[in-house]
Amino acid sequence: MSNDNMALKADNLKQHYVVKQGLFKPDAAVKAVDGVSFELPAGKTLAVVGESGCGKSTLGRMLTMIETPTNGALTFEGEDLLALSKAEQKALRQKIQIIFQNPYGSLNPRKKIGSILEEPLVINTALSKAERKQKALQIMDKVGLKSEHYDRYPHMFSGGQRQRIAIARGLMLDPQVIVADEPVSALDVSVQAQVLNLMMDLQEEFGLSYVFISHDLSVVEHIADEVMVMYLGKIVERTSCEQLFINPQHPYTKALLSSTPQLSPDKRRTRIKLEGELPSPLNPPSGCAFHGRCQYANERCKTETPELIETRFNEQEHWIACHGVQEKRIS
Ligand SMILES: Nc1ncnc2c1ncn2[C@@H]1O[C@H](COP(=O)(O)OP(=O)(O)OP(=O)(O)O)[C@@H](O)[C@H]1O
Ligand code: SF4
Ligand SMILES: [Mg+2]
Repeated sequence: MSNDNMALKADNLKQHYVVKQGLFKPDAAVKAVDGVSFELPAGKTLAVVGESGCGKSTLGRMLTMIETPTNGALTFEGEDLLALSKAEQKALRQKIQIIFQNPYGSLNPRKKIGSILEEPLVINTALSKAERKQKALQIMDKVGLKSEHYDRYPHMFSGGQRQRIAIARGLMLDPQVIVADEPVSALDVSVQAQVLNLMMDLQEEFGLSYVFISHDLSVVEHIADEVMVMYLGKIVERTSCEQLFINPQHPYTKALLSSTPQLSPDKRRTRIKLEGELPSPLNPPSGCAFHGRCQYANERCKTETPELIETRFNEQEHWIACHGVQEKRIS
């Protein structure tokens, strides 16, 4: 696909945190994100999925320039974000907004909705007070909030409505990309669907591109175009959403899917139980990081790290990092 159509492009992004281990031990590196690459076409949704601690939020913070990567390149609409001056970065940063999981913690309880929404305009634009209010009311309407909500405080709203407020705030600066970090995980299942539908409507109306972070595969099934499965800072599988659900290949993806409730019987598949815990990124296993939990692990898996390799299935791009799949030991 041509570059002009790419909203966001990440190339070998890494975030290695240096952590102190105590007086007599040398500092260690936590490889929270360890070489992530992807392309996000304009108007599309890329889901990032994996267990707690696999590096999803760290990736999100790099994509929104809250944190500078320790390695790699990040391109927004063809512009190399990391090569820009601070002023240029600030201008482009407005175009990539982040929405967090916790609509309780991320909304200032002492501020009214109107001033929460207008704050990004106060900081980043020269709009007048009246213009800011007009914009806030217009966006509130788009996310399904009423004009009388303008003078209310966050605690007066339900969880779902608060997430609508957080989404509205993310839209105030007319962004092109939204990184949504577990945007519905704190909500009841019935409310989750409403917020997901809202996000899909907004995507269509404003041509937004989403990076949608979730630990739960079932949440991304209807919203994602592409899915990227992460394990301990690395991508282990990436393909179209449809392909991932019909034809998952990596043992870790299969395990994640079997722990996801399936409604339709034709989609039920052999269950792979995910045993053990995610190893510490401070001391990651050798070879394939998943080998201690994988029923297909062999000697090679313990020593040699599998590369992410493109394998075509049903004419679809499908990237997998697994020796077992490459060796055709896993069906
Ligand atoms: N500032 C930091 N310093 C050191 N380690 C960090 C820092 N931030 C994150 N980590 C570590 O990096 C790893 C990835 O964390 P991250 O929060 O990105 O995971 P996550 O996939 O978002 O998890 P969750 O689903 O729980 O939100 C974890 O082991 C975490 O402890
Ligand atoms: S590389 Fe080996 S250990 Fe890793 S997922 Fe594949 S088969 Fe399992
Ligand atoms: Mg997180």
